[in-house]
Amino acid sequence: MAVRRFGVSLEEEILGMLDSYVSTNQFPNRSQAVRHLIEQHTVDKKWMCNNEVAGAIVLVYDHHKNDITKIANEIQHHYHNLILSSQHIHLDHDLCLETIAVKGLANELTNLSDKLIALKGVKHGKLVMTRA
Ligand code: NI
Repeated sequence: MAVRRFGVSLEEEILGMLDSYVSTNQFPNRSQAVRHLIEQHTVDKKWMCNNEVAGAIVLVYDHHKNDITKIANEIQHHYHNLILSSQHIHLDHDLCLETIAVKGLANELTNLSDKLIALKGVKHGKLVMTRA
């Protein structure tokens, strides 16, 4: 894709924020950082636009709590068309870490992830989405 240049005017303070963002995240230059920020913003917007995205749901839960393993399994079967793969790791005696790779319409992925994260026994839950 062709790259076009354009001028940007920023207050000193905002430019300073951009530069510290560039160095903290080790972007090679400001353009790369701005590109990343715009893409990220677009992905967030896609959540509303309801386009096709890919991502991962990460769950940490206590498998002793209220049939959570069974219920989480049933939910995943219900949404099987969205799930590419899943990985279950037994973190310790109580906790499980489950990583579920997903692809589909953003609002469907959000529905699936909301249902899983809301289960009793889930300690941490997060859905990460990116352009498919
Ligand atoms: Ni486990």
